[in-house]
Amino acid sequence: MNRSMAGRGSPELTIEPMTRDDLPEVLAIEVSSFALPWTEEMFATDLAQGTMAETLVGRLSSAGTPPPIAGYICVWVVSDELHVNNVAVHPRWRRRGVATALLQAALDHGRAGGARSAFLEVRASNAAAQGLYRQFRFAPVGVRERYYTHPVEDAVVMRRDGL
Ligand SMILES: CC(C)(COP(=O)(O)OP(=O)(O)OC[C@H]1O[C@@H](n2cnc3c(N)ncnc32)[C@H](O)[C@@H]1OP(=O)(O)O)[C@@H](O)C(=O)NCCC(=O)NCCS
Repeated sequence: MNRSMAGRGSPELTIEPMTRDDLPEVLAIEVSSFALPWTEEMFATDLAQGTMAETLVGRLSSAGTPPPIAGYICVWVVSDELHVNNVAVHPRWRRRGVATALLQAALDHGRAGGARSAFLEVRASNAAAQGLYRQFRFAPVGVRERYYTHPVEDAVVMRRDGL
């Protein structure tokens, strides 16, 4: 699946399922993105999950050989709900539409799988991610107090109805 980021001055993004071979690159992005990063085992569990989990990487088709991974997204479709469990973009490639393309692909997947709404949790201070989600019509629906550690922080629960 190719997603053009035309107009953002970036190479074309190719979105495809994550494989175990991608994990070293994915983990490098993960540790540069989160204070409490997912471990290799957590990604491997998602990859082994089967039909419930959709785990995608976005590669910059013309930015190197092999094309580097710019970002990834991990979602679950449970009944008619899509849960966004993880999304991150390499610091070098942020603010060029990579997360937008990944989230759009994940929502398309959820819709095709019967999801009617989407949920996620996000740190209360994470303005960048909340801005991304608001662009996709996610709205805050609650707060989970002290949900995160390192540092301790509330989670804002966001939901989008009508996928
Ligand atoms: C949040 C994150 C995934 C966004 O990825 P990205 O590829 O840079 O996002 P996009 O370029 O698609 O941006 C889409 C929109 O998100 C918002 N946004 C993204 N980065 C932003 C920033 N630094 N400040 C404010 N808004 C921001 C904007 O509304 C943006 O639209 P615009 O560029 O037209 O203004 C990225 O910053 C990241 O990996 N952060 C660390 C990991 C993380 O916080 N993940 C989310 C956990 S819930």
